[in-house]
Amino acid sequence: MSFKFFATAAKGTEGALRDELRELKFRRVKATRGGVAFEGPATEGYRACLWSRIAMRILVERATFACPSERALYDRVRELDLGDVITPQHTLAVRASSSQSYVSHTQFIAQKTKDAIVDGMREDFGERSSVDIHDPDLRLFVHINRDECTLYFDMSGEPLHLRGWRARGGAAPLKETLAAAIVRLSGWTKDALFLDPMCGSGTLAIEAAAMACKRAPGLGRAFGFQRWASYDDEEIAAWKSLEDEARDCVTSDTLNIVASDSSPDTIAIAEDNARQAGVRIAFSSRNVTQWLPEERGGWVVTNPPYGQRLGGSDEAYLALDTWIAKVRGVWTFSILSGAPELDGAFLERKRGARWHALRNGDLDCKLWTIATR
Ligand SMILES: C[S@@+](CC[C@H](N)C(=O)[O-])C[C@H]1O[C@@H](n2cnc3c(N)ncnc32)[C@H](O)[C@@H]1O
Repeated sequence: MSFKFFATAAKGTEGALRDELRELKFRRVKATRGGVAFEGPATEGYRACLWSRIAMRILVERATFACPSERALYDRVRELDLGDVITPQHTLAVRASSSQSYVSHTQFIAQKTKDAIVDGMREDFGERSSVDIHDPDLRLFVHINRDECTLYFDMSGEPLHLRGWRARGGAAPLKETLAAAIVRLSGWTKDALFLDPMCGSGTLAIEAAAMACKRAPGLGRAFGFQRWASYDDEEIAAWKSLEDEARDCVTSDTLNIVASDSSPDTIAIAEDNARQAGVRIAFSSRNVTQWLPEERGGWVVTNPPYGQRLGGSDEAYLALDTWIAKVRGVWTFSILSGAPELDGAFLERKRGARWHALRNGDLDCKLWTIATR
């Protein structure tokens, strides 16, 4: 049986996610706003949870129907038989979104969908699921677009950026999924030197290292679909074999990944994180200016401090500016910046500088790429 899946993506990472899913040999991969669609048997959803570094969640489509009114929403959901996935003993939570549709109040949509599901259960079994918004067994997403409703089940459970390795955060850590997209967008390949001179909790370097040694990001963590009624012995066996295959893929190549930060305390956090993630990175505590002169070529992929939460932005941008101006050898700088005034002063004027729009949490950012030749 074939299912339709939707891998959700942070704004600006849809293209990177599409390329990743194609590389992972998923079928009928198509990028749209907010994510990437693909198709296949249920195990392809498991495989996406296990292997995608960039997707935020993996959703599986359960039903699509015309939804011209609130009544239609309730009636059509009520007609659905969801007994293969949830029983009254399972908890649930519903989230909704709507665009260009008559039924537009998202809280109302979520409420009506939940009512229709639990009313149906009460009728069939005399009891119903309770709602748990924090840690439900089944999270449903309802999306209404141009009066057509799609009901999705979230296979991921906890969002996929929670890989399980982050012991402590450090200052303003990137989400792991965004970091993985940045590493991919930088064009770095595993044989070249990777250097993050303002690494904070180490997210970019850890994601790069996991990529280089083919460590599946979902190894060792739990997923939402494992709590569904449909996760029977056969499905458990299918998941176990995907996990075993992923374990066999991990290589022990020598990695060329270097990371530093001016704060020794932050480096201690990054080291803990890398240990938890099972990757080897050469960490040191030093100011970004201490990398000058650095004669080897390679990739600098970094996220300097910006905004009100972190100080020292001017110094960090100035150091990058000087580095780019003075560097010898062939370097590619990929710099995630959320400070337009510093972009204008330092990055924009560099020869060949180009940028890609990304969203980091609630901040619009630019990923600058500057190559020295
Ligand atoms: C935005 S944070 C990086 C977050 C990181 N990408 C992560 O995911 O955790 C910026 C980091 O730059 C470091 N930093 C600030 N000024 C620096 C400098 N002049 N040299 C080296 N590191 C610096 C800060 O200590 C901070 O950890």
